[in-house]
Amino acid sequence: MTNNNTESTISMINLQQQYAQQQIEIDQAIAQVLHRGDFINGLEVKVFETQLAKYTQANNVIACANGTDALQLALMTLGIGLGDEVIIPAFAYASVAEVVLLLGATPVFVDIENEYFFIDVTKIKKAITAKTKAIIAVHLFGQTGNLAGLIDIAVEYNLFLIEDNAQALGASYTIDNQTNFLGNWGHIGCTSFFPTKNLGCFGDGGAVFTDLADFEYKIRMIASHGQLVKYQHDLVGINSRLDTLQAAILNVRLKYLGQQQKHKANVYKYYISQLACVEEIILPKTNPNGQPAWHQFTLQVKNGKRDALKSFLSKKQIPSMVYYHIPLPAQAAYKTAAYKAGNFPIAQQCAASVLSLPMHPTLSKPQMDAIIDGIKEFYHG
Ligand SMILES: Cc1ncc(COP(=O)(O)O)c(C=O)c1O
Repeated sequence: MTNNNTESTISMINLQQQYAQQQIEIDQAIAQVLHRGDFINGLEVKVFETQLAKYTQANNVIACANGTDALQLALMTLGIGLGDEVIIPAFAYASVAEVVLLLGATPVFVDIENEYFFIDVTKIKKAITAKTKAIIAVHLFGQTGNLAGLIDIAVEYNLFLIEDNAQALGASYTIDNQTNFLGNWGHIGCTSFFPTKNLGCFGDGGAVFTDLADFEYKIRMIASHGQLVKYQHDLVGINSRLDTLQAAILNVRLKYLGQQQKHKANVYKYYISQLACVEEIILPKTNPNGQPAWHQFTLQVKNGKRDALKSFLSKKQIPSMVYYHIPLPAQAAYKTAAYKAGNFPIAQQCAASVLSLPMHPTLSKPQMDAIIDGIKEFYHG
């Protein structure tokens, strides 16, 4: 699918158009870095960490190379490795399983619920063993599920809680009248600035969030080859830095994030109002305990018709995407001998039924109408 988003061309994401809207500021920001030449750990990285901390009301933000590294840094900071178990959802992006396995720990998959695609809190206790060290909550598509229930379990069993907030930066959640941005509820939060994310850069980028000063210190060390003093390595670390150029771009893009999210909230409302009459699809619900920052508008298509609807729309030049068509425990790379297809029925059902529609900051009303008409035509002719 092309990214050329002219008024008549509908695309899943519209990176060129977003760049065009912010071009003068972005070009200036890039030029400043090019002229100064501080490409690694330059001025803009610090500025970005401060600005993002302000935006998300986080105590500490540590920029890193990508969202997958952010998760790995979180696990390494918590000392998770060989012999440890980490509970993760059966339906999520691959990074959560990958980083646990890379560190020699064991991912313990738990099925999800199909309202918010969140780990099924009612099934977690059965998965906890003496080896369990942490739970990773993945906030998919722009909001969370029963995060309060998950926090209760983490507290009861003295487990670390890591939030994978790559898809919900800017969303918040309320427990007992206390509202926090997602990413700040757990011990450590992680996010990604992959170009298509709510806040995307022009390459790879990520960040780690934590309220705890000890963790911040350790995260910074691990992200910098285990050193705080140059060439003095006190821990085994990795090399995970946000480029100064990407930070410069993100500083500009962060200014527009609130406005872009407002547009996506309107897209959400419009889709909901126009598609409510189509009984064969389940529309994404808003969690009443939270304020979403929509990343995807993800339908569940009933009666096994997902692929047929997708290809019908595609013939009309209407793009759509499946996030994700294989549950994590069924992926060849992460499958264990004990894996049985029936063990994760909701993850399986979601993998077979989810379909995300275009939802981006410059999606226009005529484009939304074309998408809505295409869906109605598929069902009602
Ligand atoms: C939920 C989730 N977690 C983690 C990641 C990994 O982020 P990155 O691609 O920056 O490594 C992604 C990115 O697609 C994601 O969607």
